[in-house]
Amino acid sequence: MSRILHRSLRNDPLLAVSGRGLLVQGAEGAPVIDASGGAAVACLGHGDERVVAAITEQARQIAYAHTVFFSCAAAEELADLLVGEAPGGLTHAYFVSSGSEAMEAALKLTRQYFLEIGQPQRHRFIARRQSYHGNTLGALGLGGNFARRDPYAPILADCFSHVSPCFAYRFQGAQESDADYVARLAAELEAEFQRLGPQNVAAFVAEPIVGATAGCVTALPGYFPAMRAVCDRHGALLILDEVMCGMGRSGTLHAWEQEGVTPDIQTIAKGLGGGYQPIGAILAQGRIVAALTAGSGAFKHGHTYQAHPVACAAALAVQRIIRDDALLENVRAMGQRLEAALQDRFGNHAHVGDIRGRGLFWALEFVDDRASRKAFPAARKVSEAVKDAAMAAGVMIYPMGGTIDGVQGDHVIIAPPYTAQPGDIDAIVARLGDAVDAVLG
Ligand SMILES: Cc1ncc(COP(=O)(O)O)c(C=O)c1O
Repeated sequence: MSRILHRSLRNDPLLAVSGRGLLVQGAEGAPVIDASGGAAVACLGHGDERVVAAITEQARQIAYAHTVFFSCAAAEELADLLVGEAPGGLTHAYFVSSGSEAMEAALKLTRQYFLEIGQPQRHRFIARRQSYHGNTLGALGLGGNFARRDPYAPILADCFSHVSPCFAYRFQGAQESDADYVARLAAELEAEFQRLGPQNVAAFVAEPIVGATAGCVTALPGYFPAMRAVCDRHGALLILDEVMCGMGRSGTLHAWEQEGVTPDIQTIAKGLGGGYQPIGAILAQGRIVAALTAGSGAFKHGHTYQAHPVACAAALAVQRIIRDDALLENVRAMGQRLEAALQDRFGNHAHVGDIRGRGLFWALEFVDDRASRKAFPAARKVSEAVKDAAMAAGVMIYPMGGTIDGVQGDHVIIAPPYTAQPGDIDAIVARLGDAVDAVLG
């Protein structure tokens, strides 16, 4: 019995022994295709020697330097690469060790910004139901994943509230046009601002593509501009959480590039370091940083491991490879192939209600009945069963239940590395097809 407090306390997980490219070898059995990058993390696949060399070299030079005393070249070069050309007006980066830490930093930078510009009353954050922003208490309170949130509700801050997500398959009316649905959601956000007092709202927070909680839910055209307009009308910030959907996963480096908006603050993590090291970051608009510079002169925040040299060196190597190997082009090409293959294999499947996503970030939502979109009973744990069958068939996909409301609904996510080749895509869909048929017939 393991002495680790594993995710399940009843079953110890298999030991992972090695990873090369898309393949992961466990201590027993044949290698499996990593078709989800864990949770959309391993964007280069496993064992890229260039990243390993960068990590080794940084560790040899200096593994750790506290940011009270020093910066390091890897962090400086990573920041230059990310915001040197001020994409969308984002000019500064702040490096942390995870997506949750990035979200905490985004909340605190927002709060401090409003203190610095003389609006201390702004302390309310509006996020969306069926969202996920992390597991630390601030990020958990912000998020709308109620299954994860509810046990801790008594110890979460009360500055967070939630509006509806833009989730067309589940919540757009049968007779409602896209424009009307977007207008309804904008009206709901406006009403929430009014309920809280618009002068009290600090930010609206959303994932451009909802990640694991609802399963690769893209917004309708016009949705993000409409949300941005509500924020602008009331002087609140727009924070976009690209921890899962960002850094190329959607086919563009930033998912917001396809939404017609730019964020005031953006969070990134998984695809930043590709799993080679734990790293996340916030990217912030110049005017926000300028307000702090002119005011107190410091971001009142900090972690022992922020801008960790080895983590930054790994992320720098990963990001250079994405750029130099033109991997975003491959994400777009393989994304089209994946979409077509999923449609071909599951488009008429009696128990696949929706196939959705973008780039190399796709989900299948399972239903008991396609016509009524009725979900399977939650107790049947369909997504878990599909994950187990897929592992047995030799492919890793990421499962989640509670797709609709935190309890009802099942989906799996397919998020292969940006390096995937046509044969990989075909093998992934074939094996997943066998797994789905084994569970659902
Ligand atoms: C959209 C989003 N935000 C934040 C997080 C939290 O990131 P981490 O698990 O690295 O703390 C996640 C993790 O899945 C995520 O998907």
